[in-house]
Amino acid sequence: MDHEIHCQYFSQEDLLGAGCLDIGMTMRAAEESLKAFHEGDVMFPEKIVQIFNDETQERINCLPATFKTQKICGVKWVSVFPPNPVKYGIQNLSAVIILSEIEHGFPIAFMEGTLCSNLRVGTMGALAAKYLARPDAESIGFIGAGEQAKMHLIAMKTAIPSLKQCRVGAKLESEEQQFLDEMRPILPDVEIVGTGTDLQAAVADADVIVTATSAQAPLLKAAWMKPGAFYSHVGGWEDEYAVAEKCDKIVCDDWETVKHRTQTLSRMYKDGALSDADIHGNLVELVIGSKPGRETDQERIYFNAVGLAYVDVAIAIAMYERASAAGMGQDLKIQHEMIFEHAHLRDWVRMS
Ligand SMILES: NC(=O)c1ccc[n+]([C@@H]2O[C@H](COP(=O)([O-])OP(=O)(O)OC[C@H]3O[C@@H](n4cnc5c(N)ncnc54)[C@H](O)[C@@H]3O)[C@@H](O)[C@H]2O)c1
Repeated sequence: MDHEIHCQYFSQEDLLGAGCLDIGMTMRAAEESLKAFHEGDVMFPEKIVQIFNDETQERINCLPATFKTQKICGVKWVSVFPPNPVKYGIQNLSAVIILSEIEHGFPIAFMEGTLCSNLRVGTMGALAAKYLARPDAESIGFIGAGEQAKMHLIAMKTAIPSLKQCRVGAKLESEEQQFLDEMRPILPDVEIVGTGTDLQAAVADADVIVTATSAQAPLLKAAWMKPGAFYSHVGGWEDEYAVAEKCDKIVCDDWETVKHRTQTLSRMYKDGALSDADIHGNLVELVIGSKPGRETDQERIYFNAVGLAYVDVAIAIAMYERASAAGMGQDLKIQHEMIFEHAHLRDWVRMS
């Protein structure tokens, strides 16, 4: 009997080359996964967190989920090492993803996971924008010019094709310049400008506002948010409480999860400045139509996602399917035969 086990390996370049940086594809996968979870079709156990340094929060998290109807179980293994950029000049986040089928329980894919993880963040912002931003929005303003901000710009442009102006304000002008250099070739029909670290100039009067910073400070002011604006909050504490207080609707990826974290809405909840009744709903309620999205051109709307790892797994499945169909990746042999079938096993056994 054939006891070989294989899976497919996909590097980030394999996934990119197969066209997986496709927000339309990831939005469809995310929307379907929200519905599947709502219908009880997703197994989603608690994540496992291992923190190696309480002060710096260097950690590796293990986040599994299973799509029962699709018969695929996946796990994201993600490292966050906040000191990396300053200390070593390297990225602070890296991830890999494993997918297994659940008919025999064998692995089917092993892939680079940072792309998927960042795509999920942008995708959830785009999905929220689909229901909550003005469909005729033309301007987008960013506070923060890092990895999430860049992916968010591609995601928002996909969700709102009418976007044609982008302003970006960051901590350093060099980060803004890098944002311009990297994003202008990708989105030639969007006028992208830096504001020389002037955060107000970046977001004041923008139709869509995104904060995606590593700061822990109330950077975004309520006075800068015009009627009709849609705000996607990506980072931790990045806006003053008055922003959420001024908004007509607050929507989360999952309010119960948001509540127990550390970003602005969570802080407000813990400080008694926000209650369950202030939350309009979770994104899935807009997707299935049980709650309305934007109802008027004048509403200010706040969206906060902290991340639901089953959405990462759903996006990884879509990426795996596209990359496999494109013939990308490499065959990874896990085993040729079972342990005691190896003809030369006796030469390999050590009994020291
Ligand atoms: N919501 C989610 O699901 C999710 C997922 C991943 C990351 N995040 C969070 O998103 C945030 C951004 O992540 P990233 O990967 O883009 O980080 P990054 O390090 O690539 O970029 C951080 C950006 O923050 C800006 N910044 C920091 N302090 C600032 C200040 N005082 N004023 C203006 N700008 C300031 C920097 O200039 C930089 O452009 C982080 O807080 C991260 O934890 C959220």
